[in-house]
Amino acid sequence: MPGVPRKISLRRIAHVYYTHKDIKTASQSLQDFGFEEITRHGDDIYYKGYGTEPFSYIATAGSENTFGGTAFVVDSLEDLEIAAATLPHATEIHDLKASGGGKRVTFWDPVDDFPFHLVYGQEEKSLAPPAQLPELDYNYPTHKNRSVNKTQRFKQGPSPVHKLGHFGVCTTNYEKMFEFYTSRFNFKPSEIVHADGRDITTFLHLDRGMEQVDHHVFFFFEGPKFHVHHSSFEVHDFDIQSLGHQHLRDKGYELVWGVGRHVMGSQLFDYWFDPSKFMMEHYGKSTLPACLRWASC
Ligand SMILES: [Fe+2]
Repeated sequence: MPGVPRKISLRRIAHVYYTHKDIKTASQSLQDFGFEEITRHGDDIYYKGYGTEPFSYIATAGSENTFGGTAFVVDSLEDLEIAAATLPHATEIHDLKASGGGKRVTFWDPVDDFPFHLVYGQEEKSLAPPAQLPELDYNYPTHKNRSVNKTQRFKQGPSPVHKLGHFGVCTTNYEKMFEFYTSRFNFKPSEIVHADGRDITTFLHLDRGMEQVDHHVFFFFEGPKFHVHHSSFEVHDFDIQSLGHQHLRDKGYELVWGVGRHVMGSQLFDYWFDPSKFMMEHYGKSTLPACLRWASC
């Protein structure tokens, strides 16, 4: 249709930005959560997981604790050009001055005015899982995968973070937000929750055609005041998740909820408050089939 730009094609979720009043305490908590610091630029500290993203979390020192938005990788430079030309209050395309390079456009959510970032051309790093993360064959009561003389030995400490998996916010206008993100991007609902005859919550995945994708990368629900709900980071398996849970308990962090198994998404969850009262999740071991274009999800 003339005058209507095509959907901006998101390839994957990339990283999140948070500003902390007490950056020293925040920095320690991020390491206890399982991130590795890679570099500092001015007030920004960059943290990585062991996946291929050059970084997964940027902590900025500031006067308030604020959520600075999430970044998604787009498929092409043309997607960034469409974003810069058509999205609300979008910046021009500018260079990312961070490890991995690349270019970025930031726009502001049309409902609640929070920043949202799109990146392209970042150099991915090679996958580097720590050596203590084996893929195990488990024994079940009626199905055994016995490995003769093999043992499991774990090192106490944080759960190493693999990557950012999803984030969620509370929006003041569900309907408007749903319309914007599903019409301007390849976000597609895996689940929609309704109450009293109207939709109030959704879990969105990226429509990548026949490519299998995670159940959700972005969720939102309606409430009286905008806020970020949580950001969620993938860890290796239940053993590693449990070790990380114990490490955070031992260090005195505030547990929100977990470890448990979600209904929507089917992943194992473990929610914690960081010292700035931002909610952070470790997730792992999803058993739900991924979403495909032709599927009902
Ligand atoms: Fe989550």
